Amino acid sequence: MSNPLFAKKPVKLLLEEMEGENRLRRILGPVQLSSLGIGAIIGTGIFVLTGVAAHDKTGPALMVSFVVSGLACIFAALCYAEFASMVPVAGSAYTYAYATLGELFAWIVGWDLVLEYAVASAAVAHGWSHYFQDFIGIFGIHLPFALANTPFDLDPAIGTYGPTGRIIDFPALVITAIVTAILVKGIRESASFNAFMVAVKLVVVLMVIGVGVFYIDPRNWHPFAPYGLTGVSFFGKTIFGQTGIGGEPLGMLAGAATIFFAYIGFDSVSTHAEEARNPRRDVPIGIISSLIICTVLYIAVSAVLTGMVPYDKINIDAPVSNAFAQVGLRWAQFLISLGALTGITSVLLVLMLSQPRVMLAMARDRLIPPSFFGAIHEKFRTPWKATILTGLFVAVQASLLPLRILSELVNIGTLLAFVIVCAAVLIMRRTNPELPRPFRAPLFPFVPIAGIAICLLLMFSLPGENWLRLFVWLIIGFAIYFTYGRKHSALRHMNQAAASKVTIKR
Ligand code: ALA
Repeated sequence: MSNPLFAKKPVKLLLEEMEGENRLRRILGPVQLSSLGIGAIIGTGIFVLTGVAAHDKTGPALMVSFVVSGLACIFAALCYAEFASMVPVAGSAYTYAYATLGELFAWIVGWDLVLEYAVASAAVAHGWSHYFQDFIGIFGIHLPFALANTPFDLDPAIGTYGPTGRIIDFPALVITAIVTAILVKGIRESASFNAFMVAVKLVVVLMVIGVGVFYIDPRNWHPFAPYGLTGVSFFGKTIFGQTGIGGEPLGMLAGAATIFFAYIGFDSVSTHAEEARNPRRDVPIGIISSLIICTVLYIAVSAVLTGMVPYDKINIDAPVSNAFAQVGLRWAQFLISLGALTGITSVLLVLMLSQPRVMLAMARDRLIPPSFFGAIHEKFRTPWKATILTGLFVAVQASLLPLRILSELVNIGTLLAFVIVCAAVLIMRRTNPELPRPFRAPLFPFVPIAGIAICLLLMFSLPGENWLRLFVWLIIGFAIYFTYGRKHSALRHMNQAAASKVTIKR
């Protein structure tokens, strides 16, 4: 028998499982799916991390950073869309990897998705806290010093992490608890609430662009790339571009690797495949349209932001609303803070909703304990245990770990997942050319190969220590897989049973 570590879940089986009972209801059309995508995308990345990236790494070249990161995501999204049309089941990249690369890779991707959803939620909750504090600050209210941030953070003056004198990021803790409670009770009734929040944030982003454009001073765009147009390191050693005080790469590409976070979430559309009315058509539409809309908006927002304020004066906590305060538009600061709070809340909702769904898919395959991660609440019909565990995990990190560490870890992990999805499309076209693909990634093999290349480039453009963090994360994942998942795997048991039947017949 072939190595069970690389056993693949047959696509036929995946589709059969979809037909079984205990399925989610098929209620989402293309507009709702795109709205879920936008709900998951526009948040802390554009409202907070643009400040860090423009101020410390790119200057006005941030616009180009958004193009590069957007390209990486569009290539990956086309590959996601091909899979989503071929295997329209919940579980996202995890399921795709299971069908193509085998169980071990599926585990790596599933474990990576914890970074993408749960750790990203912690980073997003931080962003919420920044805007909350900005918002109450407009009314002269300030949180007690000890409750306003994490106990340690990067000190930009020396380029290393050190104590901040604070104890906890309390608003991040509170918003996580609220979102967890909403999700346990069930979001289904609040689909229209999600649509409302998405509408609010789109209006605010359009307002930033539409009003901000009149306050652009083109002189602020010079120099365009004060830190250069590169910024690539190799396991921590800068090979192209300038190096920051802490040894991190600086420049347009380094900025692209930072603001990649802003795009994360488009693939969460694929975790809703089970609820799509016509998943083969609508999930690809949802993924690609939400991503394209956000890419265009991001490039415009970064042009406005860097045009309104000299890059070295851009605020790093609440840069967008602060830019409007700097040009004297207090009313706009108020509206933007409020809109950012709403928008970031919707990201948190979708990300924290997606995480238990990936866990549910993994629990159905018995790679994690189904009694816990597959448990559905009797009254609320939600995966409540997995949701509460996710909430606890997010709350601890959001209140204690700095935004930069969290967002960079999320970026490197998600980029790795994208590399695997692009590779899986390449492999699947060779191994299963006959499977129906209602959506095919165009320009094959250019798109998946370019996707892999740009994602790897961005991984190398992150500060080097992220490789170590990713490595530690994967080691923990392997420890769980080899002590639990491998032994309990439903596929392994099924294959063993099939093999023993053949032996008995003989
Ligand atoms: N893309 C999401 C955000 O920026 C994760 O908040």
